[in-house]
Amino acid sequence: MYKLLAIAGGSTLMYAVWSVMMAILPGFELAAVPPGDGVSQLTLLQQHGRDVYVSEGCAYCHTQQVRPLPVDQIFGRPSAPGDFAYQTPELLGSERTGPDLTNVGARQASDVWQYIHLYDPRAVVPQSVMPSFRALFKVVDQVPAGEQAVPVPKAYAPAHGVVIPTAKAKALVAYLLSLKQPPLPKGQSTGMAAPAPAAPPAPKGSTPAAATVASFDAANGSKLFASTCAACHGAQGAGVPGVFPPLAGNPVVNDKDPSEHVRVVLHGLHGRAINGTTYAAQMPSFAAQLSDAQIADIIDHERTSWGNHAPTVTAKQVAAIRAKGEQP
Ligand code: HEC
Ligand code: HEC
Repeated sequence: MYKLLAIAGGSTLMYAVWSVMMAILPGFELAAVPPGDGVSQLTLLQQHGRDVYVSEGCAYCHTQQVRPLPVDQIFGRPSAPGDFAYQTPELLGSERTGPDLTNVGARQASDVWQYIHLYDPRAVVPQSVMPSFRALFKVVDQVPAGEQAVPVPKAYAPAHGVVIPTAKAKALVAYLLSLKQPPLPKGQSTGMAAPAPAAPPAPKGSTPAAATVASFDAANGSKLFASTCAACHGAQGAGVPGVFPPLAGNPVVNDKDPSEHVRVVLHGLHGRAINGTTYAAQMPSFAAQLSDAQIADIIDHERTSWGNHAPTVTAKQVAAIRAKGEQP
């Protein structure tokens, strides 16, 4: 009898001790991690949006954790414990049918894009397999005062009426736009290998003429265009009718003087009629996100693709236009 009690009691005690050590203490330890620099608390609206994210099952297809692996580099810097200070329980996710969303607010900062994409992902990403979340929208005959219609492209819009977001959609988009990684403080390791050193300077004696020949890194330009611009302007520069302008045949892209082209990418654009169409969405500013060399490569890709024929620009020219500021 005593033997039995000893076995039962002993294993219960072991169970209790291990639970405290493996499940409860780490919880306290994690709760004590201070928020990282620039990590801020969610607003009430964003918190509500986070609940919608959970209830709509977004986490079944999307992670919110960037691993210190080269394949994850496209999603942002590796996640750090301080990133999650205000995000408990964490929505790390385990399936990546769609991209990681840790930094999606920086990658896709346009609320108009987010609304159209939630209404029907195919309207902005033709090959998308993400389900449509139409239940988050209402179709009404007329836009009510104080509301804004979602400019869904014709082929995806309802035959009658206009699409407006429900309170749930507004909260969800506010939450998505809040998902931005602040930079890690200098010196804090990300666990990632240091980037490869820049290419060595050209050897002495190489002909100076080579430097003035208009050449750019076409592969880099096309890659950067795909990751930063194509979501709105389309992989083939065709845009989305009425929502995002085409860049094929665009007058600014084909202008011999590249100043306006560079300025639009640096500082963004809103409310300009392009070939007679005014666009509801806004072109974000990329000044903080892209270097002069990257902007030159992207712009040169646009200036030489899809039937566009315009002179290319150099990083130096971009730097000079950046130095002049926002006004022409
Ligand atoms: C069945 C899987 C699935 C579900 C569920 C799902 N998504 Fe997606 N999502 C995808 C795929 C695949 C893509 C990539 C193609 C695209 O951009 O549409 C994507 C792309 C995205 C993007 C663009 C990411 C980027 O890097 O440009 C956002 C934002 C997004 N989803 C948000 C959501 C939200 C919010 C929900 C829940 C309301 C959700 N997704 C539910 C599969 C899914
Ligand atoms: C979130 C969507 C979005 C993204 C991402 C985006 N753009 Fe735009 N872009 C727009 C919209 C909307 C306009 C039209 C703005 C207006 O006229 O009010 C525009 C306009 C332009 C124009 C035409 C300017 C003119 O006056 O004709 C160029 C050139 C351009 N974008 C280049 C780029 C490049 C390069 C990138 C990537 C670095 C990029 N865009 C990323 C939405 C976007």
